[in-house]
Amino acid sequence: MKNSTPIKKVAIFDSGIGGLSVVKSLIDANMFEHIIYYGDTARVPYGSKDKTTIISFSLEALSFLEGFEPELIIVACNTVSACAIPFMQENTKIPIIGVIQSGMKAIVSKNLPKTSNILVIGTQTTISSNIYQDGLKDLGFINVQALETGLFVPLVEAGIYEGELVKASFNHYFKDVKNVDALVLGCTHFPLLIPSLKEYFGSKCVLIHSGETMASYLNEHYNIASCPRDKIKINYHASSNVYKLQENATKWLNL
Ligand code: DGL
Repeated sequence: MKNSTPIKKVAIFDSGIGGLSVVKSLIDANMFEHIIYYGDTARVPYGSKDKTTIISFSLEALSFLEGFEPELIIVACNTVSACAIPFMQENTKIPIIGVIQSGMKAIVSKNLPKTSNILVIGTQTTISSNIYQDGLKDLGFINVQALETGLFVPLVEAGIYEGELVKASFNHYFKDVKNVDALVLGCTHFPLLIPSLKEYFGSKCVLIHSGETMASYLNEHYNIASCPRDKIKINYHASSNVYKLQENATKWLNL
């Protein structure tokens, strides 16, 4: 059942700047009055670390965010969503959601034929959890491939979204991949590479990411306060270089 009082204050957590792709979807949908963003930029990437480490970093982030008394926490990180959410939920009364359900909703929304060649990309932890691959199989998709493309994370963190380095990393990871009908961006950093990915895979390839359906997913499950985009207050926090995070946010969110 939905909460009766609209949720005004949300906390959003990612290992770095990737969660901004989710913030963008929320502010474009005029959602929430106050967004508290936390990127663990001192310890990004999470995706190559072991599960125990990711869980302990996530619990630290949780206690940091609890201090702001948010009414909802969105884990805008597929890696944490794939392995740490139940541990976070056990340690707080604040509702916590991840991005996988919204990612699966985005896949369903495309109405792809079940025979489509689907490629899922994400960090080592997300891909080895099989969370998207199993979800796709349950939906009846029969041609699913998955690839760890962890190097995209430091590129995005460095503000490199296009150009030679990005192309070289695409050639490295995708050299054996052919005929991709749909590409699932199973990492919240990857939407920042969308223009380059579109150029590489061509206009027929459908790109899918959790941010696309986060607003509608939230509307289905929660009562969220609405606020004009330019009135939403956003506070940025980072474990290192908060100015860099803010700079990237201003660029990416067009603030
Ligand atoms: N943005 C994250 C994700 O969605 C994590 C990237 C990382 O820290 O490796 O998986």
